[in-house]
Amino acid sequence: MENRAFNMDCMEAMRSMPDQCFDLAVVDPPYGIKISNNMGRRKGERPSEYKKVTWDDTPPPPEYFTELVRVSKNQIIFGANHFVSLIPAADSSCWICWDKGFSSEVSFASFELAWTSFDRPSKRVALSSAQAGRIHPTQKPVALYAWIFQHYAKQGDRILDTHLGSGSSRIAAWDAGLDFTGYEIDPEYFEAQEKRFQQHTAQMSLFGGGGVSDYNIHF
Ligand SMILES: C[S@@+](CC[C@H](N)C(=O)[O-])C[C@H]1O[C@@H](n2cnc3c(N)ncnc32)[C@H](O)[C@@H]1O
Repeated sequence: MENRAFNMDCMEAMRSMPDQCFDLAVVDPPYGIKISNNMGRRKGERPSEYKKVTWDDTPPPPEYFTELVRVSKNQIIFGANHFVSLIPAADSSCWICWDKGFSSEVSFASFELAWTSFDRPSKRVALSSAQAGRIHPTQKPVALYAWIFQHYAKQGDRILDTHLGSGSSRIAAWDAGLDFTGYEIDPEYFEAQEKRFQQHTAQMSLFGGGGVSDYNIHF
């Protein structure tokens, strides 16, 4: 099983990839909603706990979506309700609703939507966004990606995440035994996700699985 992460611009990486070299792209690009304006309002967190975010000021350019659809057979795109017109084949009957449940984080959405290229009914997954030891301002739970891989991937699939952030997708892919390639442009986030991934895999090896992550935080 291959699990690789690169500290580089995903646009640069995708340009040199052959067509359909990934089975499934699960991506969470910037939504263009300027999350810095909302940061620091989470209960118990101060603004200074994260550096100022500018990467969320605009969504990716149209070329990003053209390339993503070219290099992968299927796509799951978080935040697509903010930029659906940029997706080449925007029509979809199959959206995923991640319901975060009751949230005291008033400035953040209580659910998130992901556009998918699958021809299936839409699904809702209820899962708290609370996570111990967060390392990224928009970190998604490993359990969310685990659910996605369980329902939309099969053994042997090659997974792409163009916007790694905290690396939750990478950890879930490793746990699921799926080949994975991820990209993160920011060196600090990249280093932090690398450390998190190494810690996770080391602990899983030590305890024979079932240790670390945020898998149990359902509601
Ligand atoms: C919405 S966050 C991803 C959060 C992630 N899903 C998680 O669970 O932690 C988007 C990430 O994409 C990174 N990014 C922005 N533009 C990028 C690019 N062109 N190539 C690779 N990464 C990029 C940002 O630094 C940020 O960490």
